[in-house]
Order: sequence, then C-alpha cells, then structure tokens
Amino acid sequence: MNHFSRFRNELRQERMDSERDTARVVPTHVAIIMDGNGRWAVEHGLPRFEGHRRGAATVEKIVRAAVGMGIRYLTLFAFSAENWRRPKDEVDFLMKLLARFLESQERVILDNDLRLVSIGDGEGIPPATRAKLDELIAKSAAGRRGTVVLALNYGSRQEILAAAKAFAADVAAGRKKPDDLDWNGLSGYLQTRGIPDPDLVIRTSGEMRISNFLLLQSAYSEFWFCRKYWPEFTPADLAEALEEYSRRERRFGRTGEQTKNSSATDKEPLR
Ligand code: FPP
Repeated sequence: MNHFSRFRNELRQERMDSERDTARVVPTHVAIIMDGNGRWAVEHGLPRFEGHRRGAATVEKIVRAAVGMGIRYLTLFAFSAENWRRPKDEVDFLMKLLARFLESQERVILDNDLRLVSIGDGEGIPPATRAKLDELIAKSAAGRRGTVVLALNYGSRQEILAAAKAFAADVAAGRKKPDDLDWNGLSGYLQTRGIPDPDLVIRTSGEMRISNFLLLQSAYSEFWFCRKYWPEFTPADLAEALEEYSRRERRFGRTGEQTKNSSATDKEPLR
C-alpha cells in the first residue's frame, strides 16, 4: 500500500468513526425530482426512451432502499403538468411505461407493506395508466410501513390555484371566513393534505431549480443536488444525501443557539 492510499484509508476510517458518533436523523419525507433520463441516454448514444426505461429501473431500487433506510414518505416527480409539451411519442411512451411500471411494482409495494398515493391532475392521464394507478392505490391503501407519493401530471402552481378556488367557494357558501385561514387550513386544501412537508428535496442531473414542484410544502425543506443523471442514481447516493441531511441544522427562523436548546416541537416551522 503506498503512502497516498494509506492516507486515504486513514481519512475514510476517521470519517466513519465520526459518523458513528453523530446521531442519525432520518428525514420523514424525501421528495425527488428525477431528472436527466434524456441526457443520460443521449450521452450513451441511446434513444431518450431508453433513458426513461433505465430511470424506471432506478425508481424500483430507490423505493426499496428508502424503505430500508427508514424513510416514511417518498415523493417521486414522475410527470409534470408541463411535461405535455414534450414530443407526443415521448409522452405516449412515458404513459405506457408508467402503466407497465405500476403493474410490475405491485409486489414491491404490497410485500413491503407500502401505500401508494398520487398527487396531480388525474383527469389528464390516459385511461389505461389511470386505471393501473387507481388499482394500485386501492390495493395498497392499508400499507403501514411507508407511503410512496407519485406526482403525476403535477404542478404546484396549478395545485395552489385549485386550493385558492376551493377556499373561495367555501367562503362564498358561508362555510369559511377569510380571516380564519392559516397555513394548517390552507394546506388542507392542497393535494398533499395529510402528507407531512418534505424534509429533504433531492434533484439529480446537476440542475438547481424547483420546476413547479411542492412550492409551498418545501418552504423549509433542505435541498440536495447531485450531478448524476437519474438512471445513474444509486442507493449509495441516497445514503449520501441522508448523511448530509443529518449534518444540517434546521433553524426555521430561529438562531443556532435557540435551536440547540429548544424542545422538539419548537424545532418545527410556524403554522
Ligand atoms: C426526466 O428526465 C424525467 C422525467 C420526465 C420524469 C421521470 C420519469 C422516470 C423516472 C421514468 C418513469 C417513471 C416512473 C415512476 C416509472 P428528462 O427526460 O427530463 O431528462 P433531460 O432533462 O436530460 O431531458
């Protein structure tokens, strides 16, 4: 072993020791923007479809890994409300891939006691894909070990607009008063009602933007960006994101001093 590899091993050992000493904080809810299927394919001289196929295989590995790591909610941005702007053949392929994927994941979801739910406008999704989605949502409704949230035909601004309209309708009907609305109340009108806000948002492919994803829900999320394209993303990358998350200090507007000395409930954002 040469001098440099010994030095590297010592450093690795030191890091492992210090990590063992740090109490691990597993995020309750991890949300992922799975980006870069197309670029991965193009860079490998393959059609974009192949990137999506590999991306779907990554989804399965990451769902299994997330369950094993103790993540209770995993949201996956599978198709945005803006993705309809893509070429028709790519959209058609993605919808068929999703239907096949849902079929193939039934065992993974049910055997792991998971619950599948979806956010987004289900109306716009082709009937065959929608049927598979609804079927698995119904079959897995009793899942207790964790929740996989599939964001399909989802756009955060569209979700907020729908919530505002629903609240306005309740006000017009005399069921609600404008002054009574607080964040808890408003979040009850969002498609994510009942799902805790994401603690950690991951985006692959080197892009550093939020792209109309969980805009209000991620107000206090930690963000982790990774250069790898989604088809290359591995459980080890997820573990690295979680490791970094566990070292972050979430202050929710308070000072570092206050955060260290406060009780667990004080560490949450204001509602
Ligand atoms: C984008 O890569 C990713 C998507 C359009 C959504 C994610 C889709 C999958 C992971 C495939 C199937 C999903 C499931 C749940 C089965 P991109 O095409 O935007 O990549 P690019 O930015 O390099 O073009």
